[in-house]
Amino acid sequence: MIPRSVLITGAAGGLGTRLRGLMRGLYPRLVLTDRATPKDLQPDETFVAADLAQLDEMERVMAGIDAVVHLGGMSVENEWQAILDANIIGLYNAFEAARRCGVKRVVFASSFHVVGYYRRNRRFGTEARVRPDSRYGASKAFGEALASLYADKHGLRVLSIRIGNIDDRPVDKRRLSGWLSPPDFLQLVRIGLEHPDLHCEIVWGVSDNERNWWDNEAALRLGYRPQSNAETLRDQALAAEAKLPHDPIGELFQGGGFASREFSGDLERM
Ligand SMILES: NC(=O)c1ccc[n+]([C@@H]2O[C@H](COP(=O)([O-])OP(=O)(O)OC[C@H]3O[C@@H](n4cnc5c(N)ncnc54)[C@H](O)[C@@H]3O)[C@@H](O)[C@H]2O)c1
Repeated sequence: MIPRSVLITGAAGGLGTRLRGLMRGLYPRLVLTDRATPKDLQPDETFVAADLAQLDEMERVMAGIDAVVHLGGMSVENEWQAILDANIIGLYNAFEAARRCGVKRVVFASSFHVVGYYRRNRRFGTEARVRPDSRYGASKAFGEALASLYADKHGLRVLSIRIGNIDDRPVDKRRLSGWLSPPDFLQLVRIGLEHPDLHCEIVWGVSDNERNWWDNEAALRLGYRPQSNAETLRDQALAAEAKLPHDPIGELFQGGGFASREFSGDLERM
């Protein structure tokens, strides 16, 4: 069940750079791809440049690959065209290239922004309906739907991780709820790459935080045992929060600034 060859897309990005270090030596062959060349590429790392928007390039890079950790794409809110190219067309190309190349597993970096318009006093599991707070969040919901399609129709095994925020420490009050430590992230990625009974699951990418908004039963069932708790790093996070500008809409919702950006909705009806 351990994949022999693993591809990381978005390998030049923030998470890709972290994950390359964390995954070093875990699998016999680790291949990296991105449209940008990683700055700190080591002599023993295999990198193949490819654009997610080009299906033939994604097929070329996935030939001979057993499992993909899909991190590539637009990682924040942006204009529609940028989201469309990277996170809709690019995501389709990643799944379709995986199918054509006989890849067995995909770990998809989804985001909690698929539910960013839930209020901060709500606690729920992955079965709650999506309430994206941005074009970015909606593109991640599309990715989770594609994951389900490719799992059911084509037998791909897929884990979608709704990542809160990965950093060395929670950087503000909101992140005391949604923080995911790098070692806990690695644990979830390894479940996606190795769990023998995985079909298609959505889990929360969050550590064992006291202020957690989400019920991570699905991840616990798969063996996830988070080791980090944001509360142990609370003081610095709250000190940083005190310096942030007041955001009356963003502070209501789990999505924070993604929820307040361009907001013209009806708060009472929400
Ligand atoms: N960092 C977090 O805490 C966090 C939280 C939630 C979700 N995520 C998701 O995790 C993934 C990685 O996040 P990150 O913080 O490393 O983002 P990042 O922006 O640092 O990295 C994304 C990478 O994707 C590459 N990319 C973009 N468009 C591409 C294209 N058309 N073809 C090939 N490569 C392309 C970029 O060059 C970049 O290196 C993203 O999908 C993001 O949405 C991250």
